[in-house]
Amino acid sequence: KTFDVVVVGSCMTDLVSQAPRLPKAGETIRGHKFFIGFGGKGANQCIQAARLGVKTAMICKVGKDFFGDNYIQNFKDNDVHTDFVWQTSDAATGAASITVNDAGENAIVIVAGANMRLGEEELQQALTAIRKAKVLVCQLEISSQTSLRALQMAHDNKVRTIFNPAPAVPDLDFGFYRVSDVFCCNESEAELLTGYSVNNVEDAHHAAQELLRRGCTAVIITLGPQGCVVLKAQDKTSTHVPSTAVKAVDTTGAGDSFIGALAFYLAHHPDMPLEEMARRANQVAAVSVQAVGTQTSFPFKRDLPADLF
Ligand code: RIB
Ligand code: NA
Repeated sequence: KTFDVVVVGSCMTDLVSQAPRLPKAGETIRGHKFFIGFGGKGANQCIQAARLGVKTAMICKVGKDFFGDNYIQNFKDNDVHTDFVWQTSDAATGAASITVNDAGENAIVIVAGANMRLGEEELQQALTAIRKAKVLVCQLEISSQTSLRALQMAHDNKVRTIFNPAPAVPDLDFGFYRVSDVFCCNESEAELLTGYSVNNVEDAHHAAQELLRRGCTAVIITLGPQGCVVLKAQDKTSTHVPSTAVKAVDTTGAGDSFIGALAFYLAHHPDMPLEEMARRANQVAAVSVQAVGTQTSFPFKRDLPADLF
């Protein structure tokens, strides 16, 4: 079997509370709604790609528990291949405690659990799928060693790679840059990685130059409502790709919707200019911020205008 998009990454059960604002340290505040959803950056990205219509496989680990069983069913319901979804009894399925305020902003604590048990052994078992993929996508909610290995395996086999260094760490191994065809992060991650402050489009241009110098083929820095900045190794200057204004209800997972869509375009229209892929991925992510939840807000092909395909 072959897959267009293969994601090596995380699954989390999202425990979401909606409250007027985010609590301060030591404070208890009253929220108005609670719900449980499917999340985790890796799975979110994979499911968004699948919903746009490419063949996807997820390489991940969940617990041998209720949340893990449910997660596997969720992949099946979304047409994601599950032969490389392992279950362990040594750790619980990953969980994310999320608070969303009235402005649609969030604060998240993740406990990665079973996600940290995905390692070299599982990558070896999925090697054929990785080798034959059109696009491989990784993030940082699993062991960073495993992410780096997966990207290396893909890179060695000329599979195009997207790396999303989220959640960011200040001391990221420089090996990640050399195996990333598209290095895609948001403004705060760019800030942490480069040490530059990234508050506007101008700052993003500078941060992108610095990230590119470290060895990736292209850099995208997403800027929320301001769209994103795209910089390719063959070009001297980066391009600002603006996005259209929408009213944000819940921005949780918007970055994952963007990356899932980007993976879709890279697999489905490999020769499309990266700026155009980013413009379209912005539009997909803009739909996701206008509805509550993470995966529940990710659009399907049928929900989107035909000119995005
Ligand atoms: O990017 C959003 C995701 O981050 C949530 O689904 C949550 O699980 C955390 O991993
Ligand atoms: Na949303």
